[in-house]
Amino acid sequence: MVNTDYEHEKNWWNAKAQKEEIDSCDEQINRALRWREINKNLTPDIRNILEVGAATGVFSIPLAGMGYNMVHFDLSNEMIELARDKADRMKLSNISFQQGNSIDLSIYEDNSFDMVINMDGAISFCGVDAVKAIRESIRVAKHKVIMTVSNRGNMLLSLLKTNNKINPDKFIPAAYSMFNEGLWHTYQFSENAELVKGCTNDYLGPIKAFTIEELRSIFEDEGMRIDRLTSIGSLSNHCGKEFIDSIISNIKLFDEYIDLCDRYDKEICSDSIGSAQRAGIIIVASKL
Ligand SMILES: C[S@@+](CC[C@H](N)C(=O)[O-])C[C@H]1O[C@@H](n2cnc3c(N)ncnc32)[C@H](O)[C@@H]1O
Repeated sequence: MVNTDYEHEKNWWNAKAQKEEIDSCDEQINRALRWREINKNLTPDIRNILEVGAATGVFSIPLAGMGYNMVHFDLSNEMIELARDKADRMKLSNISFQQGNSIDLSIYEDNSFDMVINMDGAISFCGVDAVKAIRESIRVAKHKVIMTVSNRGNMLLSLLKTNNKINPDKFIPAAYSMFNEGLWHTYQFSENAELVKGCTNDYLGPIKAFTIEELRSIFEDEGMRIDRLTSIGSLSNHCGKEFIDSIISNIKLFDEYIDLCDRYDKEICSDSIGSAQRAGIIIVASKL
């Protein structure tokens, strides 16, 4: 498998920084569902929070605004600068910024933060190192970990949908790599580059996409109690883009739809494909 080149990844995320908050498809729904879970877990024992892969601060800045002591950690200096500007404009003094790599949080001791949030990127985009990144976030958490990671079911669907662009007579090797190991990289197979034309710098990856059972065993090996482990946003993926576009512009139905999406993940189909965009598996776990 292709090793992760973090200098290359940093430059790629830097190139994406200005676009980070432009939502497409069901991203807004996935974010609203994550906010629900975070708010539910902000119990009185939570005071200091590390957010890994915090990007432009869509979670870290409001959490600092709510009074939590925040450390905003990210690989991309451009993402951090955008978040820092927001914090300065809001005159927030309870947030600090740290550039670094999620696979190495050694600047922090074990159990340093009441809560560690690591969502949507700083694990799955480590590719072959993704499990290392999960273990690091768990290590530095004192009470709670909230994480979202790429959903293998959804990644597989995306790959199969574009398969015909490459070869209408044969399933491409990347589909099998996703099926078998959950791994993707633009440089993994010669035809992969064709699939990511039009993405930022015609590039996407590395990605490690998980199954729910795979994630469960990593957390259990670390001795964590799992409070929630489900796909997230599957209903919006099943409903399709046209329906989602109409819901997002309908202020009367939006909140009720978020309720339905949340219930779908918890009561109807907890091991499904997750949202179309953004990481589609969520885990909430406690350190005992
Ligand atoms: C898609 S954004 C997600 C932003 C935010 N967490 C959210 O959920 O909306 C992914 C972020 O993860 C960061 N990232 C990617 N790989 C990382 C790594 N190895 N270490 C730290 N941050 C990383 C990127 O720079 C980017 O800011």
